Amino acid sequence: MKGFMAWVDARFPATKMWEDHLSKYYAPKNFNFWYYFGSLALLVLVNQLLTGIWLTMSYVPSGEAAFASVEYIMRDVEYGWILRYLHSTGASMFFIVVYLHMFRGLLYGSYRAPRELVWIFGMAIYLALMAEGFMGYLLPWGQMSYWGAQVIISLFGAIPVIGPDLQQWIRGDFLISGITLNRFFALHVVALPIVLLALVVMHIIALHEVGSNNPDGIEIKKTKGEDGIPLDGIPFHPYYSVKDIVGVVVFLFIFCAIVFFFPEMGGYFIEHANFEQADNLKTPAHIAPVWYFTPFYAILRAIPDKLMGVIAMAAAIAILFVLPWLDRSPVKSMRYKGILSKIALAGFAISFVWLGWLGAVPATAERTLYSQIGTVMYFAYFVLMPFYTKMEKTKPVPERVTG
Ligand code: HEM
Repeated sequence: MKGFMAWVDARFPATKMWEDHLSKYYAPKNFNFWYYFGSLALLVLVNQLLTGIWLTMSYVPSGEAAFASVEYIMRDVEYGWILRYLHSTGASMFFIVVYLHMFRGLLYGSYRAPRELVWIFGMAIYLALMAEGFMGYLLPWGQMSYWGAQVIISLFGAIPVIGPDLQQWIRGDFLISGITLNRFFALHVVALPIVLLALVVMHIIALHEVGSNNPDGIEIKKTKGEDGIPLDGIPFHPYYSVKDIVGVVVFLFIFCAIVFFFPEMGGYFIEHANFEQADNLKTPAHIAPVWYFTPFYAILRAIPDKLMGVIAMAAAIAILFVLPWLDRSPVKSMRYKGILSKIALAGFAISFVWLGWLGAVPATAERTLYSQIGTVMYFAYFVLMPFYTKMEKTKPVPERVTG
């Protein structure tokens, strides 16, 4: 074995890569619950790629056959039902895991220098993931696939001058048709997965270049022993590779419970209207995107003018990219920040969940007002950040990581 590895290493840096990224990658020793979600996101990514490949073997991307081919997968393909439910549940779980992963970043200031690019690659992943989820949802060719896509694509029509042409260019037709389905299929199964994988690799390379943050927001590289190893660092493998297995097991319990017992999740993971084939002459009474888009959908609906709504929705996502430059606190972690930052983050989290609910239910005058309040709360977190992070009194940060 030794001889074989020496032969390989002389030609390909296998041992070096193993050491740099696993056995000699020193991670802070104080990772907590919130640090499980990066590895869980990787797990879900692998699940989506594998189940996606097998679904593609039986799915037919055409306006005439798509809906029936999904029913065929569910009823006649051996283990087709489990492949589909693993994939559809995986899509929702991907967003749950990624939202918790991003929240950790907000909690411990992981987006701050020197990790700005880790955050920006993460945001690019999030955009790609949204595109992946959106295009994937058209593929079963159900009523909500069709009308949900109709609503989102029509948003491009609000852009002045080029809007209507752009809308037609995206659809490839005068209305959403089999042509749109075909291109979404190509993007969903080939183009976007390549982009996602490349971005995830860049995300992790950037992280390993600067090193992981931790719940104290202390740079462990500042306190090294004589051997040059951070005193508060432990090798990722075996310490965290084993610890992550605990997260994986708990996650798989929840994931399997959903796959086996509640794959539709009360219409949140697979909407009820999607059990009916797409019909361009029959608009459903209530159209809502899948739950992971609903916070942004609520922001869109909160603003009466369509163009301004689209701008607000785009801004709600874009503002996350500049987060590293909005936070001016002398400390990174919420543990040492002041009360204003704590209130602001709690307000942001509440507004996000609240908007998520408002975007999922039919609009009323009262709910529109709530969405407006939620939208103001959402943006206040970011726009006021340069001020409250500067004004508040922070706690002293210890030299070494705690606990
Ligand atoms: C496919 C999706 C993603 C995968 C597979 C992924 C993977 C990972 C992994 C394995 C880590 C190291 C372990 C950990 O710290 O939890 C990590 C760290 C990190 N990720 Fe992600 N990530 C994804 C999406 C995102 C998104 C959407 C963001 C934010 C916009 C993000 C921001 C970060 C940050 C800031 C860190 C460093 C955290 C720290 O050191 O405290 N990631 N990611």
